[in-house]
Amino acid sequence: MIFKENLLKDQVAIVTGGGTGIGEIISTELAKHGADVVITSRDPEHHKDIVTRIEKLGRRAMAMPADVRQPDQIQGVVDRAMSEFGRIDILVNNAAGNFVCSMEQLTFNGWKAVIDIVLNGTYVTSKAVFPVMREQGHGNIVNIGATYMWMAAPYVGHSGAAKAGVLNMTRTLAVEWARYGIRVNIVSPGPIEETEGVRRLVDEAGMRERVVSHIPLNRLGRREEIAWAILYLLSPAAAYITGNNLVVDGGAWLNAHHYGLGE
Ligand code: COA
Repeated sequence: MIFKENLLKDQVAIVTGGGTGIGEIISTELAKHGADVVITSRDPEHHKDIVTRIEKLGRRAMAMPADVRQPDQIQGVVDRAMSEFGRIDILVNNAAGNFVCSMEQLTFNGWKAVIDIVLNGTYVTSKAVFPVMREQGHGNIVNIGATYMWMAAPYVGHSGAAKAGVLNMTRTLAVEWARYGIRVNIVSPGPIEETEGVRRLVDEAGMRERVVSHIPLNRLGRREEIAWAILYLLSPAAAYITGNNLVVDGGAWLNAHHYGLGE
């Protein structure tokens, strides 16, 4: 247990894409720290075990298939969360889509698919929880960025552009919604073990050793380390922090020009 067990006691969280990858660990870490968790993702297969695992931690959990590109489906999740749990304190906009492709090869549909999931999906889900959080007079939204969102993003330019949009939206929402007691921040992971991103971008390209050798802390990150950054932002210790970008990458982006990812 990294923080106190009751850090988020009786709070209700929605985690998009919360059944697999980093999302799965975010969901379970929130539950370990006292939150009830509503998980959404497109594929019901991704929900199979997560509800049981959270219930074993002594918290309530609910999983609903929903695509962040479909506002009606996301509204359905918010309505159901309210009818089952009666409040929504936390939203983690974790759902993402990505693939490796040069801008030269990328089709307009490929570009749109990623912009739609990452940027529009974050907009849709944030807007859906907003009336609930405004009414409650408090809320906590954490978006997921990427360290390539403020640099060139060779071969993931669609994702880089979408995440850059999320960074800007994070700051705008932080300013506009502060008056309602809603904080909005963004956590930006570098390369993280046991994720699709690392499998595809690092392992398949045979670049693990090269990437690790240029990370100042000399290893890839762990999924828990992303969840812990989120827990910090959700905690009272971060009560005066909004619109912030918390980078969790072992110092990697500071050295990014050594990756040679675009060579
Ligand atoms: N390279 C190039 N283009 C690709 C691609 C790839 N690897 N994968 C998908 N596309 C293109 C498709 O060709 C299509 O364009 P087209 O109609 O011009 O051919 C477009 O993207 C949409 O593809 P589709 O498979 O219909 O979209 P989808 O909505 O089912 O999938 C994606 C969304 C594309 C983001 C898919 O990669 C995905 O679902 N990923 C989920 C998992 C994931 O990426 N998690 C994040 C890990 S970091």
